[in-house]
Amino acid sequence: MSSHRPTVLLTGAAGRLARSIRSSLQSHCAELRLTDRVPVEAPGYPAHCVHLGELADIGEHPQLLEGVDAIVHLAGHPREADWPTLIEANMTATIALWEAARAQGVQRIVYASSNHAVGFYPRSQRIDHEAPTRPDSRYGLTKVFMEGLASLYADKYGLRAFGMRIGHCAPEPSDARMLAHWIHPEDLADLVLVGLHSDYHCELVYGASANSRSWWDNRRAQALGYSPRHSADPFAARLESLGESDPVAERYQGGAFAAQEYQGDPERAARGR
Ligand SMILES: NC(=O)c1ccc[n+]([C@@H]2O[C@H](COP(=O)([O-])OP(=O)(O)OC[C@H]3O[C@@H](n4cnc5c(N)ncnc54)[C@H](O)[C@@H]3O)[C@@H](O)[C@H]2O)c1
Repeated sequence: MSSHRPTVLLTGAAGRLARSIRSSLQSHCAELRLTDRVPVEAPGYPAHCVHLGELADIGEHPQLLEGVDAIVHLAGHPREADWPTLIEANMTATIALWEAARAQGVQRIVYASSNHAVGFYPRSQRIDHEAPTRPDSRYGLTKVFMEGLASLYADKYGLRAFGMRIGHCAPEPSDARMLAHWIHPEDLADLVLVGLHSDYHCELVYGASANSRSWWDNRRAQALGYSPRHSADPFAARLESLGESDPVAERYQGGAFAAQEYQGDPERAARGR
């Protein structure tokens, strides 16, 4: 793993995940630049390192990527919504970012995909980084698009990509589903650092802590150096009874995202492949 301290641009810097990993990230960077379309609270941060703007317009601000080694891309719409909202935030803005990164010679992008890119796998099935995508929502499909975009730019232009199918990031798990897919912010920060420093071409890993109930075989992340420090296991006794009441939500990894707008036989998607 490289020990070089990179110059990094963090997108979605005002958001929940970015705020929870920013200080860990900053201490490993030569310079950490922040961008978001809403103001970023960053007291004492040098003004030239904070940029307010739409990601779709990033090509008009070449100074933002000047000298940047890597981008940590967390900007986006993080839940189910209508098509125009998701296309704008998770597709149009993402295309603009990858295109600007390619044009300016950025070496790698570490980006937030989601468990909802594979949310229609039944919970009884253990999947790894090679499992075909099974989006559970329009949101999940925009993350599949992001993974495809990352693959195209890695293969065609050599822009390395590290996609993290993040579970649910919070200081503590708070329901039964999270016993499988929760990730502590410190583990997420460690995973991002693996993405910034390890050697790969185009990767997909799972963003989860060391949960023994996980549905995911995360050996690629571990092979690249990820070693989670937290686990949801100690919360099991308290949370096991806090499952979903909906039969679709409790059957599939994507939970309520899979159940929303689902029509017909709850077993259909599980039998599908
Ligand atoms: N929160 C989780 O546990 C979780 C789980 C899986 C994946 N993710 C993904 O991680 C990322 C961050 O999630 P979050 O919970 O911090 O979301 P968030 O909504 O708190 O933060 C996202 C930020 O992105 C910014 N943004 C959105 N569209 C933009 C655009 N077009 N231009 C500039 N800025 C824009 C928003 O202003 C916001 O500050 C998202 O891509 C989300 O899909 C989050």
